[in-house]
Amino acid sequence: MILSTTWTLLFATVASLCSAAPAQLCTPKYGYWGYAYVVNTQSEVDAIAQSCTTINGSLVMYANYTGGFYLPNIRNILGSLQWRSLLRDTYSPDQPSPTTVDVPDLELVQNSLQMGSLPALRNFSAPKLKSVGWEVSVDYAVNVDLRALEEAEYFKYMGNVSTLRLDSLREVRQRAFICNKDNCTESLTPDRAFDISLPSLSVVGAIELDGRYSGVALPQLSNVSGHDFANRGFRFGTSGGEVLNLTFPKLNYVSGGMYLNGGIGSFAMDAMRNLTTHLDITTSALLNVTLPFEEAGYIRLEGNITGARFPNLRSWDTLLIDSREKLDCDATTESLANTTAHTYTCRYTTKDSDSGLSTGAKAGIGAGAGVAGLLILGVLAWCIARRKRRTERLKSESNIHLDEVPPTYGEVRGQDHPPEYASTREAN
Ligand SMILES: *[C@@H]1O[C@H](CO)[C@@H](O)[C@H](O)[C@H]1NC(C)=O
Ligand SMILES: *[C@@H]1O[C@H](CO)[C@@H](O)[C@H](O)[C@H]1NC(C)=O
Ligand SMILES: *[C@@H]1O[C@H](CO)[C@@H](O)[C@H](O)[C@H]1NC(C)=O
Ligand SMILES: *[C@@H]1O[C@H](CO)[C@@H](O)[C@H](O)[C@H]1NC(C)=O
Ligand SMILES: *[C@@H]1O[C@H](CO)[C@@H](O)[C@H](O)[C@H]1NC(C)=O
Ligand SMILES: *[C@@H]1O[C@H](CO)[C@@H](O)[C@H](O)[C@H]1NC(C)=O
Ligand SMILES: *[C@@H]1O[C@H](CO)[C@@H](O)[C@H](O)[C@H]1NC(C)=O
Ligand SMILES: *[C@@H]1O[C@H](CO)[C@@H](O)[C@H](O)[C@H]1NC(C)=O
Ligand SMILES: *[C@@H]1O[C@H](CO)[C@@H](O)[C@H](O)[C@H]1NC(C)=O
Ligand SMILES: *[C@@H]1O[C@H](CO)[C@@H](O)[C@H](O)[C@H]1NC(C)=O
Ligand SMILES: *[C@@H]1O[C@H](CO)[C@@H](O)[C@H](O)[C@H]1NC(C)=O
Repeated sequence: MILSTTWTLLFATVASLCSAAPAQLCTPKYGYWGYAYVVNTQSEVDAIAQSCTTINGSLVMYANYTGGFYLPNIRNILGSLQWRSLLRDTYSPDQPSPTTVDVPDLELVQNSLQMGSLPALRNFSAPKLKSVGWEVSVDYAVNVDLRALEEAEYFKYMGNVSTLRLDSLREVRQRAFICNKDNCTESLTPDRAFDISLPSLSVVGAIELDGRYSGVALPQLSNVSGHDFANRGFRFGTSGGEVLNLTFPKLNYVSGGMYLNGGIGSFAMDAMRNLTTHLDITTSALLNVTLPFEEAGYIRLEGNITGARFPNLRSWDTLLIDSREKLDCDATTESLANTTAHTYTCRYTTKDSDSGLSTGAKAGIGAGAGVAGLLILGVLAWCIARRKRRTERLKSESNIHLDEVPPTYGEVRGQDHPPEYASTREAN
């Protein structure tokens, strides 16, 4: 008994000594990409992995790197981890060809993680990476494991994803962009639907999800803050046959508008009381909504709306419901009974096989305005003209802008490379 305890103690001591091996700080030489190690082959990566735990600078995977990139042991990169290429470099192949990136011990990247233009990339794995100071972009990879990542300024993924693990991602201060199709080509419908889950995400500046989805889980999302992307807001677009239940149970603040498009079969946002922004839903699935807002800006519901109720709504800017399905506008109007005067239109147009075209409409200003029919007509005309203008504007706004790339770390910090560090140790 005593012997075994002694052995256990000895073992634990040895183990803790090993795991507490002193951190080795390596500072790369200053070169074209600032203080950076530039690697072309796995054996160059191995050399760095053998002698360093922290890189006081960047690690650049150069354009002619092919195959797998495996970097154990490194815990901190105080610059960026990125793939780079030089234009007009005779050594650079036409097609970047790293296939896997595996950084099992990495915990911190102080600047950016940029693997954004590698069509051959299949797997990207950084399961201990907790924090990235600026941008994360990992396009094309089929399996992405960033399960420990908690925060970044920007997050971007674009490609034919199969697994995307972002279990711990809590905050993306500027913009989160995820698109599950190659190049996010607008006309493309991916051949598989993807179930997206961001179980910890709570605050984002702007969030854009595009592609083909079978489910969306954002259970903690509470604040789409706007930040520097004040006009992007919350955009969601899905194509393909799936019908989704969209529920954002904690969302209580959105800046920059909410634009949702596709097969939306149910929609709930129960924590939202004061919708100070636009809400624009265009659904191809049958949708009957009851929305909890007390105050709202501009609301537009289009497509196959079968019901819309606003039991708590007291004031709003503009409310438009324009359906392709038979819709009980009287029920909508009744649910608005306690509101003050504001513009409101509810109408539907259906293609009925028996009676041809049938339409129904309700328009006017909210209850409590006992004004003459003439005035109502005037308001209606104004409202329709206004709607046309706004619709056009909204349509143009809702295209996802891929060219809206974030500024580089250097642009923001006024320099093109990580801060200059004194050389403490050289590794090659
Ligand atoms: C990669 O390119 C660099 C220079 O651009 C060259 O020195 C190196 O030999 C190349 N490596 C391979 C594996 O082709
Ligand atoms: C990529 O990851 C998947 C799932 O984790 C694994 O099954 C597959 O073998 C990996 N492929 C490569 C090339 O590493
Ligand atoms: C996407 O990936 C799946 C399997 O991972 C594959 O079956 C499908 O063909 C891919 N689609 C495209 C457009 O590459
Ligand atoms: C995506 O873009 C790359 C590079 O521009 C191109 O080679 C590839 O064919 C594109 N893929 C699709 C599906 O459009
Ligand atoms: C949303 O987040 C921003 C930035 O963190 C903060 O300034 C703002 O107060 C938050 N708003 C709400 C309603 O939580
Ligand atoms: C959406 O909700 C309906 C009704 O609650 C349910 O029947 C359906 O299975 C749900 N769909 C998905 C994709 O979860
Ligand atoms: C709703 O938001 C608007 C704009 O921010 C503000 O003026 C108004 O006081 C808010 N109403 C409530 C009840 O918080
Ligand atoms: C409404 O649903 C029908 C079939 O149920 C579909 O053909 C039509 O495209 C949908 N409307 C819209 C605006 O998507
Ligand atoms: C829509 O939902 C309301 C409230 O849940 C319900 O009373 C109404 O019958 C529904 N309408 C349709 C067309 O399903
Ligand atoms: C309008 O307000 C009254 C009194 O506050 C309430 O009893 C009634 O249910 C409200 N009607 C609607 C449609 O919300
Ligand atoms: C990196 O180098 C800079 C400049 O010498 C130094 O100030 C900084 O402390 C170094 N970083 C670490 C983690 O030692």
